[in-house]
Amino acid sequence: PWEEGFVNTPDSDPAVEGHRAWVRAALTRAATSRAGTTGRHSATGSLVDDAELLDELLARTATAGEAWGRRPARERAEVLHAAGRALEARRPELLEVMASEAGKTADQADPEISEAVDFAHYYARQALELAAVEARDGVRAVPARLTLVTPPWNFPVAIPAGGVLAALAAGSAVVLKPAEPAQRCGAVLAEAIASALAEVGAADALRVVTVDEGGLGRQLVSSPRVDRVILTGAYATAELFRTFRADLPLLAETSGKNAMVVTPSADLDLAARDVVASAFGHAGQKCSAASLVVLVGSVATSRRFHDQLLDAAASLVVGAPWDPRTQVGPVTERPEPGSALHWGLTELEPGQHWALAPRALDVPADGPEAALAGRLWTPGIRSGVARGSKYHRTEVFGPVLGVMTARTLDEAIDVVNDVDYGLTSGIHSLDAGELRRWASRIQAGNLYVNRGTTGAIVQRQPFGGWKRSAVGAGTKAGGPSYLLGLTRWERTDDAD
Ligand code: ALA
Repeated sequence: PWEEGFVNTPDSDPAVEGHRAWVRAALTRAATSRAGTTGRHSATGSLVDDAELLDELLARTATAGEAWGRRPARERAEVLHAAGRALEARRPELLEVMASEAGKTADQADPEISEAVDFAHYYARQALELAAVEARDGVRAVPARLTLVTPPWNFPVAIPAGGVLAALAAGSAVVLKPAEPAQRCGAVLAEAIASALAEVGAADALRVVTVDEGGLGRQLVSSPRVDRVILTGAYATAELFRTFRADLPLLAETSGKNAMVVTPSADLDLAARDVVASAFGHAGQKCSAASLVVLVGSVATSRRFHDQLLDAAASLVVGAPWDPRTQVGPVTERPEPGSALHWGLTELEPGQHWALAPRALDVPADGPEAALAGRLWTPGIRSGVARGSKYHRTEVFGPVLGVMTARTLDEAIDVVNDVDYGLTSGIHSLDAGELRRWASRIQAGNLYVNRGTTGAIVQRQPFGGWKRSAVGAGTKAGGPSYLLGLTRWERTDDAD
């Protein structure tokens, strides 16, 4: 179908017994394979701790990038399609490592794999679009030789896949540095993409490099051999990267403090469902998560929505990611005192109270669950969050939702905009005038109406933010302009 036009890859439907069988098998493997599996991927994931070796690896990959960038767009597109098929073929293995290493439940991991497959087929088509622009406008799309992709751990497959595949589609070689807590996910992903590159003798256009972030991380990011860095992570990390190298060509998707607004015209049943899914899916550890809900007018003053929200959140099943009953899995980083996560889960500000207090669950001291000690938290709902408070403006990245109130929709919009970030934003309302006003005033990259704030879909919902949710980025991932943002244009006659 991808030759005809792009279509999104379907997720694995749990109503189909054949899907349930392999998902169960993958989750069982995830529970039993937790320890000691890293060796299997040592070829792609070895730690580089020698500065000269790192420089040599970067030099070799940059050289491979020259050859890769000379390949015709049609050939690169075919490799990307093959990578999409290879990722699809590894769906069970990806689901297994996402559960065992990254704490993802099957219902979160499976669509993320679909997204990675989508990126492959979508960017394949965009590579052909670049070629069409070249032919039509008499210009040349000059690729970067070497792109460094530094993804986060919360989407350990889709986000690295997006960066790697976009850069390859644009004709650049790639060094992928997986996030520390998600190295096996990065390795399986890279193996799939590398298998497609190897079919055309271009395996050296992708290299996985793991470095100690406190050690050679700085050298990796600031190396003059790196032509562009695609970062997804905290705003502070983007700032840190800029201190490493002031002229760093950085394309960064950074933090968020996202809110959903619920107005009196909303279908409150649907709103409660979407707020809970957006706040607590993957234990709230999505850059796109709703960590605030702003209740407007009578939604704020009556108990009805509030009670529905509490009941829905309290009903969520918290547990191990490999248990198919689990709806909220572990937080990836154990909340250490002094961290934003620890603060968000344990401390209140004046005027706030726990409508639902988060609790750390006890786990067995032996067996695979032992690794989850201190990391399984029941959902928390914090009421009485005031405009300008720390919680209003601080990204917590955990299973906590703050409730704010506003007399009018305009006041709610002011509250939502009164943060440094602008990644996603949502509203539940059935009033067309309200929706128009909200959409015209809200300062965020991805606006969602009567739907949750997470789970953007390639092509249909290109993803990217405003304000401090983006650094150096102007184009959205999974959208028609993303490869343009990775390309330098030359007139053909300049090159003669
Ligand atoms: N693309 C991810 C989402 O939309 C971050 O949730």
